[in-house]
Amino acid sequence: MGSRWHEVDDYIERAVLGEDPDGERTLAAQREGGLPDIAVSRAQGRLLSVLARSVRARRVVEFGTLGGYSTLCLARALPDDGQVVTFELSDHHAQVARANLDAAGVGHQVAIRVGLARDLLHTLADDDEFDLAFIDADKPSNSAYYEAAMTRMRPGGLVIVDNVVRGGALADADSSDDRVRGSRAVLERVGRDPRVEATVIQTVGSKGYDGMLIATVLD
Ligand SMILES: C[S@@+](CC[C@H](N)C(=O)[O-])C[C@H]1O[C@@H](n2cnc3c(N)ncnc32)[C@H](O)[C@@H]1O
Repeated sequence: MGSRWHEVDDYIERAVLGEDPDGERTLAAQREGGLPDIAVSRAQGRLLSVLARSVRARRVVEFGTLGGYSTLCLARALPDDGQVVTFELSDHHAQVARANLDAAGVGHQVAIRVGLARDLLHTLADDDEFDLAFIDADKPSNSAYYEAAMTRMRPGGLVIVDNVVRGGALADADSSDDRVRGSRAVLERVGRDPRVEATVIQTVGSKGYDGMLIATVLD
């Protein structure tokens, strides 16, 4: 099925998403910079834009910048004075992302904080308020990032956690893979959390079989 998933994503890109020179340049710079090919797909990036626009997001927090592709998709859905605060461990990834975001004309909307995200959570002010959180960094830390985001989410905001299905390994209760365990932990945390209503969308496409958790913060 893998090649069919690619063909359908190709068609969706042509029929629905259209041309995206900034996005293409960002992905090309990632490849040229030797960054891993683990950004969201174009269709998934558009989903992030659609969701950000749907909640009229002004402020976004992101965990896992890579070369800035998802950051770009989020930033361009914000008003010009909106902001994405994004955490990235790798100095090299952050430099590639900074150049990409500046070239796309959204650099003024993005603050990249470089280092272990857990060590940088204190840089979020207590009175910071976010409309959308996108969690896509080291998967074992999913629950920590979820909790950090939830203390600063406005009612009606969205928390999105990427790569939670992991080719179906999510269903394996005995998995020894820390990334699967991190996904199961955050799903079970969210499932018990009365502050949110959530679901998981299973996805196929050019990035294989995976899925996103999407939670809306209740009033
Ligand atoms: C899946 S990639 C992010 C992809 C990006 N969101 C996109 O779709 O374009 C994960 C990123 O998280 C970063 N990362 C890994 N562990 C981290 C940590 N502990 N703190 C902050 N960033 C981390 C990696 O260096 C990598 O760039």
